[in-house]
Amino acid sequence: MKSLSSLLKSNKNWAKKIETTNPGFFEQLATQQSPEILWIGCSDSRVPANQIVGLDPGDVFVHRNVANIVNQTDLNCLSVIQYAVEMLRVKHVIVVGHYGCGGVHAALHNENNGLIDNWLRNIKDTYTEHNDELNKITNEEQKVDRLCELNVIKQVHNVCQTTVVQEAWSKQQNLTVHGWVYGIKDGLIKDLNVSISSNKKTDSIYHINN
Ligand code: CO
Repeated sequence: MKSLSSLLKSNKNWAKKIETTNPGFFEQLATQQSPEILWIGCSDSRVPANQIVGLDPGDVFVHRNVANIVNQTDLNCLSVIQYAVEMLRVKHVIVVGHYGCGGVHAALHNENNGLIDNWLRNIKDTYTEHNDELNKITNEEQKVDRLCELNVIKQVHNVCQTTVVQEAWSKQQNLTVHGWVYGIKDGLIKDLNVSISSNKKTDSIYHINN
């Protein structure tokens, strides 16, 4: 790993390079941000949001946690979603999981990992919802990868069920929630084609009528 002083040096070079190719870039960005995307991804160091989709600073609002989970009692994640949807008025919320996710792998096993097992419990719940399908997969890596996909799909629905997204849709706000999975082995993203842009695909019990 690089030393911290070399990171600061590298930062100076990075800022200089951007300012050279795009004079006034930072000054302009300092006055406001207007990203159109909220990215909800895994904390894994191999899945940096902006970098893997070629976006610049200012283009994407980001929330990351272990295994890209959207939990209805997580004030951190919910506050990010509220700010992104109500203030920034993003057009897209993308839940981005990744194959080979360590959090998903841990959730599939019974080791004692301490506190984090409470967090990973969300993925165990998804496993039990799909255990008929998952138990048919004998290859361990493939089983983890399929659960990575199912976890993303579950979190897409969790985003849709938040009061923030429900209220936005009840006001006809243009907002679509998507599910993607990133391949750490090839650097490519797979669209799971589970995009939802209205209440039609969410169970009526979650609807909010204004
Ligand atoms: Co992960």
